[in-house]
Amino acid sequence: MSEAQALLEAERITKRFAGISALEEVTVEVHRGELVGLIGPNGAGKTTLFDCLSGKLRPDEGDVRFDGRSLVGLPVHRRARLGLARTFQRIELFSGMNVRDQLLVAERARHGGGSFLRDAVGLSRPTADEIERCDRMLDLLGLTPDADRPIESLSLGRGRLVELGRALMTEPKLLFLDEPSSGLDRRETHDMGTVLQAVQERSHTAILLVEHDVPMVQRLATRLYVLDAGHLIASGPTREVLDDPAVRAAYLGVGV
Ligand SMILES: Nc1ncnc2c1ncn2[C@@H]1O[C@H](COP(=O)(O)OP(=O)(O)OP(=O)(O)O)[C@@H](O)[C@H]1O
Ligand SMILES: [Mg+2]
Repeated sequence: MSEAQALLEAERITKRFAGISALEEVTVEVHRGELVGLIGPNGAGKTTLFDCLSGKLRPDEGDVRFDGRSLVGLPVHRRARLGLARTFQRIELFSGMNVRDQLLVAERARHGGGSFLRDAVGLSRPTADEIERCDRMLDLLGLTPDADRPIESLSLGRGRLVELGRALMTEPKLLFLDEPSSGLDRRETHDMGTVLQAVQERSHTAILLVEHDVPMVQRLATRLYVLDAGHLIASGPTREVLDDPAVRAAYLGVGV
């Protein structure tokens, strides 16, 4: 495979819900190790695109290629095995578990030992190696002081970091992040940005980032795609795209 081939190539993705066109022939690509932003006003189709790429939804039309192979028809867990991971706009963590165990479940899912359910209810003991891997991730995310805390006691900001850590435990080649700063205050948003930069530098994971926080997008993304009402209205280097009058119009009032 040539170096120039994109890691993810989504071509002309179309998705309709009961006649409403959520995505119309949307084409995006992400190269290895790059951090690309995906922005657009509410209802633009950003989450729907993630759902189509990660396998939660089946597009009506279009092709998704990842690492040289077509993903069409592959379920979520098969895509995850190939190196795709995501976090959710509304945080999704297992209740009744502490922080380290959240990561441990993901670490075991990576090995695919088939004991996911048993692990999820905490019946099998972690090995020293598994604990070490989880603790390294907790350290990267600045979550070491929270390792033994129950998930319910965390702030939303810490919870989002745990969700990010869980996705990273699978060692993805590509990570979809759906508004990681949603519900966070300015300080937490800045900290999240710092963690994402560290992650990208350390593991060279490619990231497709949906984010409303424009300073965060500017800081992290080298390239942007802009969706508006299901259509891709702009793409290119971050600053150029943010200066585009069509993009500014779509974002009127958001202050790009
Ligand atoms: N399961 C569904 N059934 C019907 N319509 C849906 C469904 N999911 C999304 N839609 C519609 O598709 C369009 C795109 O929604 P989507 O959630 O992808 O937007 P978004 O860009 O993620 O918005 P936000 O910034 O608010 O998260 C909207 O019109 C939405 O109402
Ligand atoms: Mg969304």
